[in-house]
Amino acid sequence: MSYTWWDELGEFKALHSMNAIRIPWIRDTLTRKYEQMPLSLASPLQDKVILDAGSGGGILTEPLARLGASVIGIDMVEENIKVAQTHLNQDPHIVSRVKYIQAAVEDLVETEEEKFDAVVSSEVVEHVSDLSTFISSCCKLLKPGGSLFITTLNKTTMSYGLAVFAAENVLNLVPKGTHDWNKFIPPDDLQYMLDKNGLTRSLIHGIIYNPLTNRWTWIQDTSINYALHAVKAEHSKHGI
Ligand SMILES: C[S@@+](CC[C@H](N)C(=O)[O-])C[C@H]1O[C@@H](n2cnc3c(N)ncnc32)[C@H](O)[C@@H]1O
Repeated sequence: MSYTWWDELGEFKALHSMNAIRIPWIRDTLTRKYEQMPLSLASPLQDKVILDAGSGGGILTEPLARLGASVIGIDMVEENIKVAQTHLNQDPHIVSRVKYIQAAVEDLVETEEEKFDAVVSSEVVEHVSDLSTFISSCCKLLKPGGSLFITTLNKTTMSYGLAVFAAENVLNLVPKGTHDWNKFIPPDDLQYMLDKNGLTRSLIHGIIYNPLTNRWTWIQDTSINYALHAVKAEHSKHGI
């Protein structure tokens, strides 16, 4: 289904519309953190090096580069990387700031440890086979003081009913089999893994998708989708 990545009304439309909330969230968190004054409105993420871990077709990678960041998008699926690179080549303004790599995030640690100001992994961890190794790799890839941004699905009856059953069988938002509920992650489990790797959670917040309006909204309730931001300890190389 790779050719549909850039169809804003296709199978990935919810990822496209999520950009409306996840990009300002990442931008504002990073610019506040580095207290960039005066803030460059055109390139607020200038000089930031970001890893988009599980970048798919580049739906999130490109807008981050448009905000001035240098972004590495990594995805284990060759076809996704090809689609992302082909789409990127159409925009000469950002092509030099984005690099796509076809590999598993876990394989990047050997060469890129502590290289990134931020690691972003949006709608990925619920697809990963060895979550503990994946999270530990994301943490190792961050510079001390770096930020990890995750969006994912909670493991609740509600998330099964809406994100799996309704999304795949009633609303036909995503193809059948897109999500395996057994891989969904309760926030406490994610928090435990982050703690083990020397990261402190600074935010956890619910987000919800309205399929009728194709819009995402921030909500208090984290029982279906949630977003998490955590920060790596300043002087810890490998965490605890
Ligand atoms: C639902 S897509 C999300 C794409 C992108 N983050 C976005 O929000 O537009 C999940 C992606 O994660 C990738 N992925 C899953 N596990 C991975 C791993 N261990 N290393 C790299 N990519 C991975 C998949 O190939 C897939 O492209």
